[in-house]
Amino acid sequence: MSIEVRKLGDALLAEVVGVDISKPLPEEARKDVYQAFLDNVVLVFRDQPLTAAGMVQFAESFGRLEPHITKKYNHPEFDQLIVLTNQNEKGEVDPFESKRGNKWHTDMCYREVPARATSLHTLQIPDAGGDTLFANMYRALEAMPASLRSRLEGRKATFRYGGRAADGQARLEKNEQQAPLVAHPIVKPHTDTRRHSVFVNPAHTVGVVGMDDGEALELLEETYAWCMRPEFRARHKWRFGDTVIWDNRCAWHKATGDNPLRQPRRFLRATVADN
Ligand code: OGA
Ligand code: MN
Repeated sequence: MSIEVRKLGDALLAEVVGVDISKPLPEEARKDVYQAFLDNVVLVFRDQPLTAAGMVQFAESFGRLEPHITKKYNHPEFDQLIVLTNQNEKGEVDPFESKRGNKWHTDMCYREVPARATSLHTLQIPDAGGDTLFANMYRALEAMPASLRSRLEGRKATFRYGGRAADGQARLEKNEQQAPLVAHPIVKPHTDTRRHSVFVNPAHTVGVVGMDDGEALELLEETYAWCMRPEFRARHKWRFGDTVIWDNRCAWHKATGDNPLRQPRRFLRATVADN
């Protein structure tokens, strides 16, 4: 191993040390980082402020970058990046933007090919609040009671940006609102490890193929309640200079959405495609 990996959470999340991510990674280090990413699901690199170009280069070491569905955050210089912010156009901290991502979800699960990974790099973080939570969906599946698991196996669920929620739809851009439904297996094999995990989530899942709404919602709610158990989770408290990358194929994440001091919170964000 050319790198050092320190576990931060029992279920997932590890810090990688001894790697300068502001420069292209030597091939051996890149492979080791990717393996650590597969093993730990969420990686953090600390105390390394990056330029936008540096962030593109770092994220590209995990795969091809894909522009996000929400256009209004596009980075002025790099269309592979967005600036994730809780501020509106006037620079004011916006309560709607502050709540984005505060439901458990995976990114781009509403696409035919869900994202491989998402990476955030700190630009500005609040003095209090604004943490990000992660949950290991391999673990959730592996520890799941057989009676629940057997109801999920072999089933597909449907996904759409925003899921079933009508709230906030008015604030979505046209391409977000008009996104078609896509279906994925509820118990889904990971494209690299082939391990299975729970793939449905409370934010973007709409229903279960072949079930009426009542039955589907009951099954989904029961699944979510299981997957939300604290033993599958880890919390990341941001520090300036952090870069985090998570595996979307086997982890949920959510913003805590709390910002008691109403301070700006901004990240460079890249999405790694899985094809
Ligand atoms: C995201 C996301 C969580 C956060 O960038 O996809 O959900 O804490 N972020 O901002
Ligand atoms: Mn997200």
